[in-house]
Amino acid sequence: MAEELIVNTSADKKEKYESLLPQIEGLISVESDLIANLSNIAAALKFGMDFFWVGFYIVKDDELVLGPFQGPIACTRIRKGKGVCGTSWEKAETVLVPNVDEFPGHIACSSDSKSEIVLPAIKDGEVALILDVDSDKLNDFDETDKVYLERLMKLIEAKL
Ligand code: SME
Repeated sequence: MAEELIVNTSADKKEKYESLLPQIEGLISVESDLIANLSNIAAALKFGMDFFWVGFYIVKDDELVLGPFQGPIACTRIRKGKGVCGTSWEKAETVLVPNVDEFPGHIACSSDSKSEIVLPAIKDGEVALILDVDSDKLNDFDETDKVYLERLMKLIEAKL
């Protein structure tokens, strides 16, 4: 397949996800390397959804370690239970934060980050990695993001 992403910039958020997810599914269906796939997913989300920061943290021993991402440079290691990412890892569930200043222990990799959603991918009953998406606007994530990004995590889990 051609490595070209089709993005309709005038579409609403739901339409963008509807268009993007099958393209991501197609992209990762022809590749088995996890880092290659996570790299393309980060790029597809950055350019397809115009996110401020999007990337993965991978569970390595007792820490989350920065993986493929798109956006400003970020913290490289996060411990379990720390920040939004470490909380999503500990609870093994999606954490949606409308205002990062109101989340106790939020880790500010960038002072421009205002809201955030973090989702885990599970392998053999354990969190294997998390997806972190940051916005430079308050209240930028909602149930639509949760629904579609959780679908994306299922696609990733199938490749773990
Ligand atoms: N804000 C995150 C840290 C990761 S960066 O936002 C990329 C947190 O509180 O876990």
